[in-house]
Amino acid sequence: MSADARKTAEGLSYLSGFGNEHSSEAVPGALPEGRNSPQRAPLGLYAEQLSGSAFTEPRAHNRRSWLYRIRPSAQHPAFTRTGNGAIRTAPFTETVPDPNRLRWNPLPDPAPGTDFLAGLWTLGGNGDATQRAGMAVHLYHANASMERVFSDADGELLIVPERGGLLLRTEFGLLHVEPGHIALIPRGVRFRVELLDDSARGYVCENYGAPFQLPDLGPIGANGLANARDFKAPVAAYEETEGPVEVVNKFCGNLWTATYDHSPLDVVAWHGNHVPYVYDLRRFNVIGTISYDHPDPSIFTVLTSPSDTPGLAGVDFVVFAPRWLVGEDTFRPPYFHRNVMSEYMGLVEGAYDAKAEGFVPGGGSLHNMMSAHGPDRETFDRASAAELKPQKIDDGLAFMFETRWPVTLTPQAAVAEHLQRRYDDVWDGLERHFRPLR
Ligand SMILES: [Fe+2]
Repeated sequence: MSADARKTAEGLSYLSGFGNEHSSEAVPGALPEGRNSPQRAPLGLYAEQLSGSAFTEPRAHNRRSWLYRIRPSAQHPAFTRTGNGAIRTAPFTETVPDPNRLRWNPLPDPAPGTDFLAGLWTLGGNGDATQRAGMAVHLYHANASMERVFSDADGELLIVPERGGLLLRTEFGLLHVEPGHIALIPRGVRFRVELLDDSARGYVCENYGAPFQLPDLGPIGANGLANARDFKAPVAAYEETEGPVEVVNKFCGNLWTATYDHSPLDVVAWHGNHVPYVYDLRRFNVIGTISYDHPDPSIFTVLTSPSDTPGLAGVDFVVFAPRWLVGEDTFRPPYFHRNVMSEYMGLVEGAYDAKAEGFVPGGGSLHNMMSAHGPDRETFDRASAAELKPQKIDDGLAFMFETRWPVTLTPQAAVAEHLQRRYDDVWDGLERHFRPLR
């Protein structure tokens, strides 16, 4: 909300590349050379490793960073339980899984003074956070900057802003994210969210499973989809706050709080590959047909969290970005289908090419495992009759969290005022066209 925060956000510089072995120091000489944990770390800093994977995972999946900080993270008082607000965590057992197609309007306005953490509202999810498997779908709607610091031991947070810019102050440095961009905060990384506009609204995928990675490209080749160089990590920046700072820790589904006597965002230098990052979705290199039909929407995968079964994601993050449609003799919008995976879709701006109305920015839809869905009647009629000249889809930015297990709703999502009660009607009136030859 402050002009200062926006000026800071717009002046940031970054390190480039997904999964790189980055290094950064806010003060020259803060980063040790040639070793991670010297007998005395430079400048009187404490050396500390933050693990994002088991020590022994294969090198290609191994994530860790070394942080050089003013105080070690270990120096903190005991955490005590605090209210969970509207945040819920897997396993989700308070409602029965719903086979119906469901759709919501945006969250209502929050009460004054609602920060990002207080504004988080869980729609549902799957798996079990204590088993490090599955995911949760959250929405957020905030109108105040955080003064406290938050970290999530249960999973990484993929933030998809729909309205309002955010300045993320993390242990690793500062990130600026606007609608149309995404930000990722790794498991356990402390951060604070400052608002750059009067309010902020969007979506969060909390991924309990393996960290998101770029999908393999197979025959696509060495380039394409989300290019690694477009992911940006922060440069080191630290706070020297000596005074009470509230730190909230999400652990196995509950929020715990402690008041530190200093800011834990006190990392002066760091190196490693377990880092927060931002990515501009408009940089996504969209690949599609140049002949007929169109590929399955997995072609739009930005990031994937693999499971133990090759090709089966715990959750994929998929974006429907501006693109050309040129397929000949092809029904061009997304086809009717039933999917063994479960799909939560959101809309950042504009419209989505399979839904003529009712699917609005800030809203969302859930099509659970095997639920039948596809274009609404209006879209079907229009696309079936359209002249198939090259067409640019450039008025929308939709995305999907696609997950291997059905999403079970929280009670608050199941009975929400903003749940659309007549979503099924969009497929009403699809006419019978069958005319057997006689
Ligand atoms: Fe679908």
